[in-house]
Amino acid sequence: MFDFKYYTPTKVLFGKNTESKVAELIREFGGTKVLIHYGGGSVVRSGLLSRVTAALDEAGIAYVTLGGAVPNPRLSLVYEGIELCKKEGVDFLLGVGGGSAIDSAKAIGYGVANDGDVWDFYDYKRVATGCLPLGVILTIAATGSEMSDSSVITKEEGLVKRGYSSDYGRPKFAIMNPELTMTLPDYQTACGCTDIMMHTMERYFTQGGNMEITDALAEGLLRTVMRNAVILRDDPRNYEARAEVMWAGSLSHNGLTGCGNDGGDWMTHKLEHELGGLYDVAHGAGLAAVWGSWARYVYKDCLPRFKQFAVNVMGVSDGPDEAVALAGIEALEDFFRSIKMPTNLRELGVEPTEEELVEMAHKCAVGVGGAKGSAKLLDEEAMLQIYRASV
Ligand code: NZQ
Ligand code: ZN
Repeated sequence: MFDFKYYTPTKVLFGKNTESKVAELIREFGGTKVLIHYGGGSVVRSGLLSRVTAALDEAGIAYVTLGGAVPNPRLSLVYEGIELCKKEGVDFLLGVGGGSAIDSAKAIGYGVANDGDVWDFYDYKRVATGCLPLGVILTIAATGSEMSDSSVITKEEGLVKRGYSSDYGRPKFAIMNPELTMTLPDYQTACGCTDIMMHTMERYFTQGGNMEITDALAEGLLRTVMRNAVILRDDPRNYEARAEVMWAGSLSHNGLTGCGNDGGDWMTHKLEHELGGLYDVAHGAGLAAVWGSWARYVYKDCLPRFKQFAVNVMGVSDGPDEAVALAGIEALEDFFRSIKMPTNLRELGVEPTEEELVEMAHKCAVGVGGAKGSAKLLDEEAMLQIYRASV
């Protein structure tokens, strides 16, 4: 095992009607003037936003609102939010929605707490020295942003999608009511389950360091998410299944399933981020579309882990290493199909030209500083081959 840091400062309130505690929590963490940041309107339609503003009104906590964070949230709205916070004297951020609203709120928080252009952090030019305190009411189980240190933003100019990670951005609190996810379209529920699995799988397919306890948590989480994703496909209003998936989403990306490893692989995510930037696809679906091609490209270099995954997670019978590993990859693709996730770019609905594949591979390589990956180190040429294989 490798040494590790495990830091999860987020206070979680989980269960029915937990959003009624929002004013109490904001006060506990010192908020006196709040920016409520949300997405394209689902929280307006569900009535959640008006319940939140009513709770703040009743508690006498001042607030302003800013909606419009789109999936693959944009830098221009982040700038708008930073200006608004400075003008209004905002001292606390409340992200209400999914990863996009939360990530956008984190970026606004960095922009308010640090001088200069906030994009510098996403462009790896500078490191943030603070972030405005942030709380979250989650409406989709997917990214784990409610407990993670990450924020992913797309710069419109050049369609560059980049993530920035810092402990300063970890939310102070996360309100998680599984009932709030029941209004999700089935597609988004399935995308979320895929993303959750992938956050643990990125930490699983590595060259060493994986502890037995971490593997047990990771494999249990993956089996739980698969089982409950199928339940939700057939019964979207199943509270218990919503709850299992929602909690798995947080644990999958708060560091727990990576303790002791070498930092993880993360190349499926990096390859997807270019798809999200260029074609604006849903993150989870993009991951499913490239994973199989990535896995087939790297599995021989990481055979023991692929075999363990096949047997312990996908239920493949023991046998020759390579055959078992390949059967595990196929079994996961079958699972993706069973919840209507794509397993290649065509099924994702994009048909890149060769020039676009080259462009994505180049941007991806630049984004990771040349080469990245633990299961197998991938350079620009390898990235291009994986993109080509996923068409
Ligand atoms: O915008 P609204 O109207 O709210 O609609 C959203 C959006 O259309 C809708 N939705 C969310 N909750 C709903 C709902 N519709 C009905 N009922 C509800 N309860 O679902 C759509 C997707 O929302 P979004 O926030 O974009 O989804 P997600 O949570 O999957 O976030 C995706 C973004 O997060 C990034 C992704 O790259 C992508 O940009 N990621 C962030 C990470 C992090 N911060 O740690 C890690 C991830 O790997 C990921 O990269
Ligand atoms: Zn993800």
